[in-house]
Order: sequence, then structure tokens, then C-alpha cells
Amino acid sequence: MDSIEDIECIKPLLQYKYGCLVSKVMFTAAELGVFDLLLESGKLMPSTTIAERLGTSFTGMERLLDTCVGLKLLRVERTGSQALYGSTEFSNLYLAESSPKSQYHHMMFFSEITFLNLNYLTDAVRQGKSPLGKIYGDSSSNLFDVIFRSEGEMKRFSQSMNSNWHLCGRDVMAAFDLSHFPLICDLGGSGCGLAKECIAMYPNSTVTIFDLPNVVEMAKKHFVSPEEHRITFHEGDFFKDPIPEADLYILARILHDWDDEKCVQLLSRLHKACKPGGGVLVVEVVLNEDRSGPLEAHLQSMLMLLLTEGKERTPSEYNALFSAAGFKEVQLKKCQLYDAILGRK
Ligand SMILES: C[S@@+](CC[C@H](N)C(=O)[O-])C[C@H]1O[C@@H](n2cnc3c(N)ncnc32)[C@H](O)[C@@H]1O
Repeated sequence: MDSIEDIECIKPLLQYKYGCLVSKVMFTAAELGVFDLLLESGKLMPSTTIAERLGTSFTGMERLLDTCVGLKLLRVERTGSQALYGSTEFSNLYLAESSPKSQYHHMMFFSEITFLNLNYLTDAVRQGKSPLGKIYGDSSSNLFDVIFRSEGEMKRFSQSMNSNWHLCGRDVMAAFDLSHFPLICDLGGSGCGLAKECIAMYPNSTVTIFDLPNVVEMAKKHFVSPEEHRITFHEGDFFKDPIPEADLYILARILHDWDDEKCVQLLSRLHKACKPGGGVLVVEVVLNEDRSGPLEAHLQSMLMLLLTEGKERTPSEYNALFSAAGFKEVQLKKCQLYDAILGRK
């Protein structure tokens, strides 16, 4: 093979090698406020002005902006020796923190928590389980014990979770007609992101958020206004404490945190709490039956290995969990980013 063929063949390796760096460049520009500044100003600016306004070095900012242009996250207009940088429709919509569809908080969670732990992925694969105890230097094996150490951390996590629902919450809530379930309980409902999409779509529904006591306290303070009286709260541990009465229980991105045994334990508790005709709606990224993809589900499953006891699952794996918990009728609907599985009692 000559060197030109080599370069063609090696392109995927070059691309993957820079994968983490590409993400980190985007996260850095978001964290420094580049996308917000350019959205708010609505005009093109030289790198020196952007650096001054954001309190960074000229050298670092110019390099960051040029790389963002290369990644098509920003645009540039060059006249002679002057370069003027501006936002793009994409950065205005998804990268600026102030945009309603912003993915800023999700990026910050990736940058601060996920990326910090990626060095331990080899350990996770070797051991077949999360090395969280080793990473955080204590005996904890539960992600929520290590990331929920302050109200600020819990708030940031919930904001990160909510960013996804601003994009695809409606799609997931529309997968099945939920108007037959007026009383809904969202277990592990965190910052009410999905609950808000649910009450907006189903005018007769009320949603109770069941989450850990500290999370409920934080969510009441930061994520609901007094007018949102169709969202109520219930604090407790869904593995131990009584389950509130409801027509439908939502488990969005919950089962992928836990091993099969814990999933069956939780689903069995919900089966017991369900009235006949009631149900459980599981929301996850579902793997293809033959495990051929989607790639996002495999990547997410690697993160679950790194950070939790859980994994992403195929339709038949979800069916097996539902069936072990006593549910007879289980239906899957594929959606845009997250999929929905409804089990009825
Ligand atoms: C991955 S987050 C999912 C948040 C939300 N459902 C969503 O999709 O945006 C997991 C949630 O489960 C909650 N949780 C974890 N263990 C719990 C337990 N034993 N009892 C109640 N809630 C729990 C966490 O506090 C967190 O809000």
C-alpha cells in the first residue's frame, strides 16, 4: 500500500483521535460565553474584542475562534488582514446558554463530569463495572451519591437532563396517547423537564415528581413556579418507600442506571402499585434487536458502564424485565432521540 492509500485508509483514525478534542473545543467556547456574546450582540466582532469582553488572552481566543469556524460552529468574514467572527444559526439555537433549545447545560455536564472520568474507561471495561469508587476515592458505587453533594451540583445535573427534553420531550410524550392517564407519577423526575412537556401536551394530567429528598427540595426551589400547580412532589427512595398512587408511572432514563435485578425490583413495585389498566412508560435509547446500533445507544451504554450499574438494552431485554415484573402487554414506539416503551397491567 503506498502512502496516498494509507492516508485515505487512516482517515477514520484521524477523525476519531480528535473526537474528544472537538467536543472539548465546543464545550470551552460555550463555557467562556462565546456563543452567548455573539448571539446577544447580533454582529460580527474581531477576536480581540471577544477576548476583552470575555476576559481571556488574545492568543487563546483567536485560536479557539478559528477552530470553531473550522468546525462550522461559528462563521468568519475576512477582509485583508482583519477577521470578524459571528454566530451561526446552529450556535444561536443550541450552543448559547440563553436559547430555549440550548444544550449548554448538557455540554457542561459532559465537560465537567463525564469527560473527567473518561480516563477510567479502560478500568471499567477490564472490571466490567463502574470504577466510581476508585475515581472519587471513597467506597461509593452510586453516581447520585458522588454528583449530588451540593444543591448547585444537583441543579446543574437537572438542568443538563432538562436540555434534552426541551428538544425531544414532546416527541416522546406523543409516542402513546397518554390522555387516559390523568394522574401521572414521574419516578426520578429530577428537574421536571419531561413533566412540563407532559402537562403542556395533556391538559387534564397532573404529574407527581418522585425523587430523592434533596433533589425534590432543590427542584421545588429552582424548577417550578407557583402557577405550575399541576406538578406536585413526593420525596423518597423508589426502591424502599411507598409508591404514590397514579394511573401511569414514568421511568425516563432510570432503568439504564441499574442492573437487571434492580430494574425488576423497581418494575415489580410499580406493577403492585398499578391499578388494572394502569401502566409504566419507560423512556430510553433502545438498542436494535440484533445490537447493530444505533451508535448513540452503544456510546451511551459505554457511559453507563463507566458511571452506573446499568446499560442500554434491546426491545427483548426490556420485554424480559417487564414480564419478570408481571406486565403482560408491552409496546415499543421508536422516536427521534429517545424511545418509549409502555407496559400495561
Ligand atoms: C438519570 S436521572 C433521570 C432524570 C429524569 N428522569 C430525566 O430523564 O430527565 C435519574 C434520577 O433518578 C433519581 N434517583 C436515583 N436514585 C433514586 C432513588 N433510589 N429513589 C428516587 N429517585 C432516585 C435521581 O435523583 C435523578 O433525578
